[in-house]
Amino acid sequence: MAVKKILKYGTPSLREKSKEVHKVSSKIKTLIQDMFDTMYVNNGVGLAAPQIGINLRVFVIDVSTGDEPLNPIAFINPKIIKKSGVVVSQEGCLSFPEAYTDVKRYKNVMIKALDRNGRPFVLEANDGTLLARCIQHENDHLDGILFIDHSVNRFETDEVLKKHDLPPVEVNNLLDEPELDEAIRNDE
Ligand code: NI
Repeated sequence: MAVKKILKYGTPSLREKSKEVHKVSSKIKTLIQDMFDTMYVNNGVGLAAPQIGINLRVFVIDVSTGDEPLNPIAFINPKIIKKSGVVVSQEGCLSFPEAYTDVKRYKNVMIKALDRNGRPFVLEANDGTLLARCIQHENDHLDGILFIDHSVNRFETDEVLKKHDLPPVEVNNLLDEPELDEAIRNDE
């Protein structure tokens, strides 16, 4: 069991694009185990390798709740292959302790990746479930994108960050998401 230090918002490497994994070696398997250990200790539902200072395309999630059995899933070299719909909801991140804000996400996603044994799999998550949102959140980390970049209201996000002694919104990193904005308008 190895619990790693989680990098906080403001650390430049969180903004880097991570590299593909070329071989699912024992080193990668250890990395994945360390990521699960770190995620569970911190009561997270997801963790991406760059958050512990490793800029490789790997993330882990477990969205099980209450008395459900644990459901750890590891994603190596993931790629979102389908996305549709829109959902707005509160999100947080282990790199932003206790800071939550409303963000825009796709409601439905399909993702392909390699599992921790190097075998390819496809996973579908629909209806804006925690799983669907978590997949997008963690996948973003691999491209240096953070949840606040999807903010519905950047001024509100700024207030939240300030309250938790985190650096302000990086305006240049805010995403232009006309497709999601349009879908939100049509929903109203
Ligand atoms: Ni995160």
